Amino acid sequence: MGFEPESRLVDERVESRINTLTLEQLEVVRRGAEIIKSGGLVAFPTETVYGLGANALDAEAVRRIYETKGRPSDNPLILHVSSIEMTEDLVEINWRARMLMERFWPGPLSIVLPAKEIIPPRTRGGLPTAAVRMPDGAVALALIKFSGLPIAAPSANISGRPSPTDAETVRRDVGGKIPLVIDGGETRFGVESTVIDMTGEHAVLLRPGGLAKEALEAELGEEVLLPQDQKIIKRSPGTRYRHYAPEIPLILAAPGEIPQDAQNWAWMGIAEPNGAPAKKVKFRDAEEYARELFRAMRALEKSGVSVIYAELPGERGIGLALKDRLIRAAGK
Ligand code: TXA
Ligand code: MG
Repeated sequence: MGFEPESRLVDERVESRINTLTLEQLEVVRRGAEIIKSGGLVAFPTETVYGLGANALDAEAVRRIYETKGRPSDNPLILHVSSIEMTEDLVEINWRARMLMERFWPGPLSIVLPAKEIIPPRTRGGLPTAAVRMPDGAVALALIKFSGLPIAAPSANISGRPSPTDAETVRRDVGGKIPLVIDGGETRFGVESTVIDMTGEHAVLLRPGGLAKEALEAELGEEVLLPQDQKIIKRSPGTRYRHYAPEIPLILAAPGEIPQDAQNWAWMGIAEPNGAPAKKVKFRDAEEYARELFRAMRALEKSGVSVIYAELPGERGIGLALKDRLIRAAGK
């Protein structure tokens, strides 16, 4: 199976990413791989957000991830891989899932499939399924490849905080608790990967993310269902938990909907707001809004304003994921 020509294509993409690393970066990644192999934790950049990684097959190492983040133990982790061959050891891959891997990996797509015994229950939150993803980032791919292990990695924030999109934020959240934070600059997408369930007859979108639903539908040639579309309710355990909401109120509003008597407010959005905000964070488009969202929220809550008005984007492309994160941040 691992010799299929399309799998080779994925391997070639991985090679070409890793080849962009400098000697200095390779040195840091090698150090990270040693830590992973010996059961330790390493924070590393992916194209979406920074991850807090450990050997996915080592239940004790995985326990440390939960402990470090303060994460509920029934919320399963994504296993990060560097080849389809490695993935075959972990989950049962059906042909539609394989199609998605060959088309979109490496990239911001996590695929939920039946888990094989080799994955400790702790990694998959006790579920019979597991999420697998091949991240698109030279550092992440090299870290997995050099350690020769699937890396379980949630976002590298303390539970309840926004996902970190730069190394400095990771250091502030978990830096003191782990041996290595690999700095790879700011992440390209800024929102987490799309999570799709491919275990059933229909593909179900468990979490909108960096890869657009439209792109998945075009490749599969069928509609991708939302969890609420189904009679049998599917959900990602992670969506049960209260998500990050800023320390000050965040209110979703169109530019013209800001109350006349609003005081000391901040605006966050693509359009120009009506009125005079004390702070304004404006984005060129939905892509930039998504990329900067978590950083902007962390900055605005510390900026002295008393409320954030945030523009709600449309649902096309990355807009669906952005809208999802904004609604959660607004506590709706
Ligand atoms: O972009 C990302 O996905 C980042 C980077 C680091 O790769 N990781 C990330 O992990 O966002 P985390 O742990 O914050 O989110 C994982 C999501 C959760 O909502 C979890 O419930 C869901 O994936 N998940 C994992 N395994 C699952 C499974 N077997 N069935 C359903 N949902 C699953
Ligand atoms: Mg997270």
